[in-house]
Amino acid sequence: MIPNETTLAGKRILLIISGGIAAYKSLDLIRRLRERGAEVRPVMTAGAQQFVTPLAVGALSASHVFTDLFSREDEQDVGHIRLARDCNLVVVAPATADLMAKMAHGHADDLASTVLLATDRPVLAAPAMNPRMWMHPATRRNRATLAGDGIFFVGPAAGEMAESGEAGEGRMAEPLEIVAAIERLLVREERPLAGRKAIVTSGPTHEPIDPVRYIANRSSGKQGHAIAAALARLGAEVTLVSGPVTIPNPVGVRVVHVERAEEMRDAVLAALPADIAVMVAAVADWRVAATAGNKIKKRPGEAPQPLLLAENPDILKTVGHHASRPKLVIGFAAETENVADNGRTKLERKGADYILANDVSPSTGIMGGERNTVKLVGRDGTEDWPEMGKDEVAERLAALIAARLSV
Ligand SMILES: Cc1cc2nc3c(=O)[nH]c(=O)nc-3n(C[C@H](O)[C@H](O)[C@H](O)COP(=O)(O)O)c2cc1C
Repeated sequence: MIPNETTLAGKRILLIISGGIAAYKSLDLIRRLRERGAEVRPVMTAGAQQFVTPLAVGALSASHVFTDLFSREDEQDVGHIRLARDCNLVVVAPATADLMAKMAHGHADDLASTVLLATDRPVLAAPAMNPRMWMHPATRRNRATLAGDGIFFVGPAAGEMAESGEAGEGRMAEPLEIVAAIERLLVREERPLAGRKAIVTSGPTHEPIDPVRYIANRSSGKQGHAIAAALARLGAEVTLVSGPVTIPNPVGVRVVHVERAEEMRDAVLAALPADIAVMVAAVADWRVAATAGNKIKKRPGEAPQPLLLAENPDILKTVGHHASRPKLVIGFAAETENVADNGRTKLERKGADYILANDVSPSTGIMGGERNTVKLVGRDGTEDWPEMGKDEVAERLAALIAARLSV
């Protein structure tokens, strides 16, 4: 298909190329961006210049190629701070493990990392590296830190690596996928949720037994926090009601920290009215009926006292049937069997528009993990989403919400 030549007309993209074998694909990326009318200003790391030449990058982009932080001519002409800001979007493709680590830690020891630290523009990164480098806990940490800082990601994909013949996740997204992500950020979805209010719940609840013990579950809050961040990036004013989690607050979101289900319900109701409610928290179904005022003591020779439970408020159902019901009410169903059927039953009972049902059996590693496989259960059917990172699930859901509210 001939691309729409004007989708990126008038947009200036600062393309940072770092030193990975996938740098050769950046040449095609430049061509695709220019076909759509974008102006591309390239920055290359020293590593990148080992893989593709500034001559080729300069010829394809029809632009000066910036390589040095301490270049007297470039500094007098554009200057690194202006370079960082005089664009609509910064794209890092490929983003090496090394450059991601520098970005996550705020290093600024070459032109690329300095520009990334100095920019006030949105940043989209397309990681590319060997699967073991991608799966290394250090890279996982850096990726999570960067997502929390509001950096957008596209890919990597699974497949065979160019240099080693090894297979796994780590291949840079194809140039056209990167172009699509750029278009989503710059054209089609330019803050489509501006002026909309969203409430998101996230994490587990802790239901106290006594002052030191509680009933909890394995929810980490990663999925709910990612959804709050994704909605905020699309312009929504987001209140995130979070149970006890160990992950950082997302950027650009108002966070209310709670512990118990009843506190979570109160915080959610206090945030109404809203246009969107996404109830992701794994709220405990039951609480201890009478929390002990003092630590329950173990008495030698005495059998333990049974715990009497009381039902907790059903927050999703309360919101789904509230007089100020948000236009879109979305719930999560964490299931270990009959995932789609249970999702559909829950949709009806709770008065929700969509249920994202996922299988949280221990073998899936979803609870607490980085990835998720969900079924989107709606009033007109069920969609199976492929396995994705929790950030990608969040971005896809936020895009769906924006599309639903635009009609
Ligand atoms: C042949 C070869 C291929 C490489 N490919 C990658 C890669 O795909 N991804 C990556 O993160 N690093 C890769 N590296 C390692 C980086 O080049 C190295 O970490 C370098 O310091 C990155 O510098 P930069 O991040 O400043 O561009 C590769 C190295 C070699 C020698």
